[in-house]
Amino acid sequence: MPLTDDHRQRDRAEDRDTHDSSAIVFEGVTKRYSDGTVAVESLDLTLPAGELTVLVGPSGCGKTTTLRMINRLETLSGGRLLIGNRDVMSVDATLLRRQIGYVMQHSGLFPHKTIADNIAVVPRLLGWDKKRIRERVAELVELVGLDEALAKRYPHQLSGGQQQRVGLARALAADPPILLMDEPFAAVDPIVRAHLQEEFLSLQRRVQKTIVMVTHDIDEAMKLGDRVAIFAQGGKLAQFDTPARLLSAPASDFVIDFIGADRELRRLALERLDSLELDAGLTAPRDEIVARARSYLQQAGSSGIVVLDEHRAPLGWLDWETLKHADDRARIDSLPLKPWRHRLYMHDNLRSALNALISAPGEVMPVLNDQGRYLGVIDQLQLTRRLS
Ligand SMILES: Nc1ncnc2c1ncn2[C@@H]1O[C@H](COP(=O)(O)OP(=O)(O)OP(=O)(O)O)[C@@H](O)[C@H]1O
Ligand SMILES: [Mg+2]
Repeated sequence: MPLTDDHRQRDRAEDRDTHDSSAIVFEGVTKRYSDGTVAVESLDLTLPAGELTVLVGPSGCGKTTTLRMINRLETLSGGRLLIGNRDVMSVDATLLRRQIGYVMQHSGLFPHKTIADNIAVVPRLLGWDKKRIRERVAELVELVGLDEALAKRYPHQLSGGQQQRVGLARALAADPPILLMDEPFAAVDPIVRAHLQEEFLSLQRRVQKTIVMVTHDIDEAMKLGDRVAIFAQGGKLAQFDTPARLLSAPASDFVIDFIGADRELRRLALERLDSLELDAGLTAPRDEIVARARSYLQQAGSSGIVVLDEHRAPLGWLDWETLKHADDRARIDSLPLKPWRHRLYMHDNLRSALNALISAPGEVMPVLNDQGRYLGVIDQLQLTRRLS
């Protein structure tokens, strides 16, 4: 039986668990605050090394507390927490924190230090020389997409989104193997957030840190997480799985409610067009004449045809209504072709495909290779079949 991606991912994860020193393991971990509030209850959870795990759940369900136990900013009330087989409670807290980058829920920058000095906090503690620190700060400012002119400012002179980027730069400064991030993109508007998420994903593909990230945005969780832990009130784990598994096999009604009614659409977002068999579709070169194009359409019983230019890039959609009244000998590129509003490539996901299809002038949507050349078409039926 061929291995599914899920299996493969799991095997890889297990491999890393036993070999890597940055896997994080919660064993029956409980956190009870002094007033009796149980923030986390008997949590069993293994966060594989080199993966991005997202903790998600309603406000007050214990996400921040869970995160802060990893770097011992909160003390466990019960159970064990291991990082690469070492019990965190047996490691010196200060040393531990130097190996773990932490992006706080509300940027948590030092107000009286400049941006550059904020970023340099851990390298200074580690005793790096001035030149090395200066170079590292410049590198990080660029990495998180900040203007270098901002480095001399103080936190209150930055927007919320800029402050969050500084928080991220600071957490990455000493290149720690583990990164904890508490709602790192919450203070930015949706467009900047989407941009930061993309940057962050590509960064993670390069650096492969063990990342634990908190959010209460399920879209963000599904987009960024290799695995997602969904918490219910009281720090109880509702389900821990890959995004694909959460969508295809939600463990409870709570999970279904949390993921939301558009679960099916989310599933589409996880699959790429190259997982579908494209239809060859009906095409004609731009210099074809009307009479011939008409007979193609009639033979195929299609309502329109994709007109291609000399490089096989789609020029537009030619429908039967337009062809019907045209002069037999005219070239089809002299007729009013309907352009597509979107371009769809093989690496796009099926949700983008659905969006493109909905606004397409005909009932099919052309799919292109990276060079923009025509490969085939998809239609709504193919997507519907994939959903069921
Ligand atoms: N220092 C504290 N003393 C007592 N209770 C606390 C303390 N810190 C947090 N709590 C309580 O523990 C529970 C979990 O809090 P936590 O901050 O971990 O939630 P969260 O999931 O991060 O929420 P949010 O999404 O709002 O940030 C909440 O009921 C909260 O009121
Ligand atoms: Mg929180």
